[in-house]
Amino acid sequence: MHQPKILLIGKNGQVGWELHRTLAAVGQVLAVDYPEIDLTDAAAARALVLENRPTVVINAAAYTAVDKAESEPKLAQQINCAAPGVLAEAAKQTGALMVHYSTDYVFDGAKSTPYLETDSPNPLGVYGQTKLAGDQAVRAAGGDHLIFRLCWVYGARGQNFLLTIRRLACDRETLRVVSDQFGCPTWSRLIAEATTLALRQVLAAREASVYNGTYHLAAGGSTNWHGFASRIVESIPEAERRCRQVAAIPAAEYPTAAKRPAYSVLDCGKLQKTFGLQLPAWEECLRLVLDTP
Ligand SMILES: NC(=O)c1ccc[n+]([C@@H]2O[C@H](COP(=O)([O-])OP(=O)(O)OC[C@H]3O[C@@H](n4cnc5c(N)ncnc54)[C@H](OP(=O)(O)O)[C@@H]3O)[C@@H](O)[C@H]2O)c1
Repeated sequence: MHQPKILLIGKNGQVGWELHRTLAAVGQVLAVDYPEIDLTDAAAARALVLENRPTVVINAAAYTAVDKAESEPKLAQQINCAAPGVLAEAAKQTGALMVHYSTDYVFDGAKSTPYLETDSPNPLGVYGQTKLAGDQAVRAAGGDHLIFRLCWVYGARGQNFLLTIRRLACDRETLRVVSDQFGCPTWSRLIAEATTLALRQVLAAREASVYNGTYHLAAGGSTNWHGFASRIVESIPEAERRCRQVAAIPAAEYPTAAKRPAYSVLDCGKLQKTFGLQLPAWEECLRLVLDTP
């Protein structure tokens, strides 16, 4: 079978770093990141696709600083909305499949049962607004596309909740963690693996366009930040940590620049039905990460 050429943008991010490894078995991967490619430069983003003419464009790059986005809306808009639109248009022009990532923060959290792909988005902050606009731009480009909507991404590298809590647990006796925001913590490696397995199915299909659409992709079950933090702290041997107590606090006692949804658990039934893929429960994901050297 002819080896697909995969252009991966954002190879140094949490998800991108894992994708660089999992995609290696599927095709020839051309992986780039900032500053080689600056997604605020629309012409450069377009040229990257038009000059390389890949079979698949995977955009794992994004402006992900949720709070900082409130004071940098223009930059967040360029990276999260304008750039994915330009990449998707160039992909359409060259007949490539566009793979993109969305966020649970497109939802306002008013629901109390897991969000479906068909639920109406209503982002509470700039990050979510720009990401939602990016999803819409990818769809509007009109080419073949897969959008995977993720939730609470973490892993063994990068900037994420797991690493922050592990660091703080060694520094402080008490951690105060928000307990009234619910989501599904999801390991970046499993996101990359699920993306790769889904992509293989699409590439092998006679008609890729039947798969076009948005898919929720998250670990099973749900928890709040306090529950997640407690599990992380418990995993550190007592002798190695200073932290003795993880106190639950309401979000109102932990003010942030951006408002976050109180509930953004994702229903991943569509992913399961379409691709036969189902991620394990978040506790099992966490065990696997902690068990990884
Ligand atoms: N993290 C989460 O909890 C979460 C939740 C839901 C959805 N998502 C979505 O999942 C996807 C992957 O997220 P992630 O957590 O893996 O992101 P990440 O670790 O923050 O990585 C993002 C990557 O994008 C790059 N980037 C930033 N600005 C750029 C620019 N102007 N030009 C080119 N590259 C640029 C970053 O490079 P630098 O490091 O050099 O800036 C970084 O390598 C994103 O679409 C994100 O919105 C994330």
